[in-house]
Amino acid sequence: MISMKKLTLGYKKEKILHDVDLKIEKGEFIGIIGPSGAGKSTLLMAIVGGIKVFDGKFDVLGYNLKNIKKKDLSSLRKKIGIIFQGYYLVDRLSVLDNVVSGMLKEIPMARAIIKYYKDKELKKAKEFMEIVDIEKHSLKRCDELSGGQRQRVAIARALAGDPEVILADEPISALDPKSATKVMKVLKKVNKTYGVTVISNLHHLEYAKDYCDRIIGVNNGTVIFDGHSSELTEELVEKIYTTK
Ligand SMILES: Nc1ncnc2c1ncn2[C@@H]1O[C@H](COP(=O)(O)OP(=O)(O)O)[C@@H](O)[C@H]1O
Ligand SMILES: [Mg+2]
Repeated sequence: MISMKKLTLGYKKEKILHDVDLKIEKGEFIGIIGPSGAGKSTLLMAIVGGIKVFDGKFDVLGYNLKNIKKKDLSSLRKKIGIIFQGYYLVDRLSVLDNVVSGMLKEIPMARAIIKYYKDKELKKAKEFMEIVDIEKHSLKRCDELSGGQRQRVAIARALAGDPEVILADEPISALDPKSATKVMKVLKKVNKTYGVTVISNLHHLEYAKDYCDRIIGVNNGTVIFDGHSSELTEELVEKIYTTK
């Protein structure tokens, strides 16, 4: 569903990622690791067409990202859910309102504000709140929640958009270990239950090892590891986290 061949990505005139060759299949749970500044966020954001393609071949969900039209880009973005630290939830609205608003792609907040939901939407929202284990707080305002709870709302909200892929940029970096573990477990459950592909940048190697089926190691703009965590030797870890 995602294919990168000899891909060079970057900003304006600056090339950041070089010669990236990756194939990602439906249903994978991938962790991208590497030091700060390696290019992890650039790689992730390239998948939603947010990054300049200099060279190579790049297909995402059947769209050629090298010269994608605006209309196609907006169709592509509807199939991708994004979660990052400090994800923008509407604080003064309830958990439920935030989750339902994830379904309203054309008029994002309008109907959420007047709280006009169809039965079908409510049923779906309930299902997603249950899977992220936040339903008992469904009527609380989001500003009453902890960081981990907010991140779980963000996952439910992303799910409400019926995505084929969920991209998470360091979703647990600001959380305590217990909340971080819970968020990773929820992402895994979502991946297994719905077959949604999850690609997550993770600062902490241990979480990537524990939860991801496949790890991609990025260092200084190059993918230097792509495999199962069991193949990740101490030597490779050292190489991935080396900075100049
Ligand atoms: N908007 C931008 N414009 C120009 N350079 C950027 C931009 N965002 C990131 N970079 C540069 O791209 C490189 C990789 O950054 P990033 O993808 O954020 O790394 P990571 O997520 O691994 O920390 C860094 O050198 C950074 O300075
Ligand atoms: Mg980053």
